[in-house]
Amino acid sequence: MINKIHELKKAKNAIIVAHNYQIPEVQDIADFVGDSLGLSKKAAETKAEIMVFCGVHFMAETASILCPEKKILLPDLDAGCSLAESININQLKEWKKKNPNAVVVSYVNTSAEIKAESDYCCTSSNALKIVESIDKNKEILFLPDMFLGAYVQKKANRKINIWPGECHVHAAMTYEEIKNLREEFPDSEVLIHPECACGSQAMYYSEKNKDKDIHFLSTEAMITKATSSANKNIIVATETGIIHKMKKLAPHKNFIPINKGATCKYMKMITVEKVLHALEKEAPEVRVPPEIAAKAKSAIHKMISIG
Ligand code: 13P
Ligand code: SF4
Repeated sequence: MINKIHELKKAKNAIIVAHNYQIPEVQDIADFVGDSLGLSKKAAETKAEIMVFCGVHFMAETASILCPEKKILLPDLDAGCSLAESININQLKEWKKKNPNAVVVSYVNTSAEIKAESDYCCTSSNALKIVESIDKNKEILFLPDMFLGAYVQKKANRKINIWPGECHVHAAMTYEEIKNLREEFPDSEVLIHPECACGSQAMYYSEKNKDKDIHFLSTEAMITKATSSANKNIIVATETGIIHKMKKLAPHKNFIPINKGATCKYMKMITVEKVLHALEKEAPEVRVPPEIAAKAKSAIHKMISIG
């Protein structure tokens, strides 16, 4: 299957990109593995005509908005995102109506329709930078992740309106799990994705105890920190798929997931077999209607340029 995939890729001028949460076998056949921001940047710069997007639906939509002339294939159209589902277009329109002067900042984990109604798009790696770039006197509507929103609000030290959405995987990660592992491995580095429910308490704890080994990072920044840190024990608070790349880059280290069952069923829907099938059939393709894509583009471009 892998040989066939390589042949088809060459013959069709295609590339395969994969998110850090993909199953190991899929990460291993990808030309590029990264976080949401990295994948968007890759989509914007690639010369390939076909991109097989091993991730979830909103990520493939973002790639399609950035390069409408390319064929963006999502090997399983059911690969969605519980966080992106936590707000719909009517709810956003209603929220905007109640706050007509507010600036809308949407996390990249949203549908193209939501992005089209947003002023800025952000990822976990640049959400803080984007909020900090907005005039202090402007009201902000931040959506859909309440934990990322709370993190940004605290770090930027300004009040923002936060949508009460969450990701089912990260919402299940508790501060107790971190605290217990920190006690078991006092000499460790703790890497937390800002979508985690444990974020506020972990931030409070790290400030109170002047604990410099607790970090809030996007998936790619977690990988960089894990591999560059002098610590051998790395506590990882995010989807466990990320540990594959960490282990490949730093095989001698001990990566400890705070929750071994923290897996995103949507990310895991993509398999090597489905990638091969997508390349053979050049389907299923993700396309965003041009009028929505045109409106969403400006918010996505700001996300990439502020990157
Ligand atoms: P990153 O932007 O850090 O890749 O995270 C995306 C995501 O879906 C986290 O659950
Ligand atoms: Fe969405 Fe959560 Fe899966 Fe990330 S881990 S893709 S936020 S459901």
